[in-house]
Amino acid sequence: MTPDDLMFKPGLMKGERILITGGGTGLGKEMAEACLILGAEVYICGRRGGVLDETARKLMDAHGGKVVGVACDIRVPEAIHDMLDLVWADGGALTGLINNAAGNFISRTEDLSPRAFDAIANIVFRGSFFVTLDCGKRWIAEGKKASVISILTTWVWSGGPFTVPSAMSKAGLNVMTQSLAVEWAPKGIRFNAIAPGPFPTEGAWARLSPGQDAESTRDMGSNPMGRVGKMPELANLAVYLLHPMSEYVNGQTIAIDGGAWNAGGGGFAALRSWDDQQWADARAMIQGANQQDRAKRTV
Ligand code: HXC
Ligand code: NAP
Repeated sequence: MTPDDLMFKPGLMKGERILITGGGTGLGKEMAEACLILGAEVYICGRRGGVLDETARKLMDAHGGKVVGVACDIRVPEAIHDMLDLVWADGGALTGLINNAAGNFISRTEDLSPRAFDAIANIVFRGSFFVTLDCGKRWIAEGKKASVISILTTWVWSGGPFTVPSAMSKAGLNVMTQSLAVEWAPKGIRFNAIAPGPFPTEGAWARLSPGQDAESTRDMGSNPMGRVGKMPELANLAVYLLHPMSEYVNGQTIAIDGGAWNAGGGGFAALRSWDDQQWADARAMIQGANQQDRAKRTV
C-alpha cells in the first residue's frame, strides 16, 4: 500500500494510538499499514510472535513510524491485561481499537464438536469482548475518548450456513456494538463495525475455500461487482471510522462487499450440494493449515 491508495491527507492519524488484534496478517495488517502511513502509532497482536515481528519490521522499513507487535492470545483475559499494561506504559492510552482477530472454518454443523465451537467462539465472541472490556475500563477510568471498530461479516444479517460458530459469534459482536454505542457514548467511547465481503487472505482462504488460492478468486463472477474487495477500500473505511472527525457515526455496521449480500450472496449456502468425500477433503486441508499455523505460535 502507498499513500496514493489512501483518500486522506498525510498526517491525518498523527497522535492516534491504535491496537489491531490479529494485525500481523491479512486485513489487520492492511489496516495497520494505512494507520501507519497516516501517522498513527500502531500496536498489533496475535499468537505467532515471529509473524508479528516480521510484519512490524516490514511496515516500518517501508514507511518509518512505529509498529509494535505484542504476542498475546486474546482467549486469555490475563494475557490481554498484560498486553494493555505494556501498551499504556509505552505512550499512554490507546485512541482506537480494531477487533479484527478471528478463527473460522467451513464445516457441516453436525460435524462440529464442542471443542470446535469453542475454538472459534473463544477467539471471536469472548476474546473480542474481553479486549474491549479491558480497554473500556481504562478509558473510563482516565476519561479518555476512543473509537472501537469490530470486523464482522454480512452473516450477522443473513445467517452463515456451514460457518455457524463464526456467524453466531460475529452476531454477538454486532449486538455488543449496538449496545455499547449507547451505553458508553456519554463517556466518549463509540462503537462501529465493518462487514467485509470477500477480501482474499491466506488465513481465510485456507479455511473457507480450501484448495483454492486467494489469487485465483480475484475475478469473482458471483459478486455484483464481478470482483473481490481491494485492501485500500477496506483500510480507508477503517481510518474514517477511527478518526475523531467521524465522531457522530456511532452504533453502525457498514457492509463493504460490492452489494453481495443485497444480492443474496456472501455466504456458503451453495455447499449444501457437497457430499461426504468433499467435506472430508476440505476438513483434511483445513486441519493441515491449522497445524502449520499452530507450529508457529509463541504464546
Ligand atoms: C471440523 C474442525 C475443523 C474442521 C478444526 N476442527 N478444523 N472440526 N471441521 N475443518 C476442530 C478440531 O478437530 C478440534 O476439535 C477443534 O476444532 C479445535 O481445533 P484446533 O486445531 O485444536 O484449534 P486451535 O489450535 O485452537 O485453532 C483454532 C482454529 C484455527 C479456529 C481452529 O483455524 C485458527 O487458529 N484460526 C485463526 C485464523 C483464522 O481462522 N483465520 C480465518 C478468519 S476468516 P476436537 O473435538 O477434534 O478436538 C473469517 C472470514 C469470514 O473469519 C468471512 C468471509 C467472507
Ligand atoms: P487472518 O489473516 O487469518 O487473520 C486472523 C488473525 O487473527 C491472525 O493474524 C491470527 O493470528 C489472529 N488471531 C486468531 N486467534 C487469535 C487469538 N486467540 N489471539 C490473538 N490473535 C488471534 O484472516 P483475515 O481474512 O485477515 O481475517 C481478519 C478479519 O476479517 C476476521 O475478523 C475475519 O472474520 C474478517 N473477515 C474477513 C473476510 C475476508 O474475506 N478475508 C471477510 C469478512 C470478514 P495468530 O494465528 O498468530 O494468532
